[in-house]
Amino acid sequence: MGRVIVVGSINQDVTVEVDRLPRPGETLSGRSVTYRLGGKGANQAAAAAHGGAETLFVGAVGSDASGASLRDELASHGVDVSQLLDADTTTGTAFITVSADGENTIVLDAGANGRVGEDALDAVDDLGTGDVLVLQGEVLPATNAAAVAAARAAGARVVLNLAPVYDVDDTVLEDVDVLVVNETEAGLTAGEPAPTSPQEALDLAATLIGRGPSSVLITLGRQGSVWADADGSGAVPALDLGPVVDTTGAGDASVGVMAAALAAGYPLSDAVEAGMRAGSTAVLGAGAASSYRAIEAVAPRTAR
Ligand code: RIB
Repeated sequence: MGRVIVVGSINQDVTVEVDRLPRPGETLSGRSVTYRLGGKGANQAAAAAHGGAETLFVGAVGSDASGASLRDELASHGVDVSQLLDADTTTGTAFITVSADGENTIVLDAGANGRVGEDALDAVDDLGTGDVLVLQGEVLPATNAAAVAAARAAGARVVLNLAPVYDVDDTVLEDVDVLVVNETEAGLTAGEPAPTSPQEALDLAATLIGRGPSSVLITLGRQGSVWADADGSGAVPALDLGPVVDTTGAGDASVGVMAAALAAGYPLSDAVEAGMRAGSTAVLGAGAASSYRAIEAVAPRTAR
């Protein structure tokens, strides 16, 4: 069984609840400010650990109080934080509003996440076949490109969640095993309109595979997700497990648990299903990683 290694961001999520999301220029009163672990990288690492994978996080926090508490919080999810560096700057911060129907807006200050360099994986000298490297768009594109090259050289698989989306080279995509994008990111990456239905998303997934990745997963919010690879494709509906409290980090839960399932030896179709269940579980609780403790671990592949 391989490990999940996440190179990515870790943020202090400062979240305020509002009745509805503000319009440009509007001042709204909120309530219940919370300070929690976030960052797409840290969230995905926490989810992978709850999904049952041995998980290592590679990233950076600032030399401030947030950095120290986030390190402890990530470790409390079962993630190895030995490669979480202290940088001489501020910790990444996300300013989040969550509306009564669970939708959110997020404004980011990258802080220490900008210090995660192209040498990020140098200290992970036992990266190998069976391991799954997970990347997102909240560290520098050059950092991701170097990590993809290191994983490819070591025979590890690569999951690239292009969120936030950036202009990624085809030479990088050619070494990616699973490209994960939402509908907006899919449209921007393909240079086409965002898909509005699972069928349109399947068509766009085929276009994206043409840019180089071995497989593509497009998430569609309440419409579930679609995946495609050289052997086939499929659509996975979102599960309604109860009232939606907070969608923050639900996509990260899906990516982390999908990576855990891939590391456990499951095929992509099964891994996507496990990820969708985790994402549907995560929306039932407040916050990002704080909502992951209810996620069920992926069963060992040998038990099937
Ligand atoms: O995907 C959710 C995450 O995006 C939040 O935790 C926030 O930190 C931003 O990175």
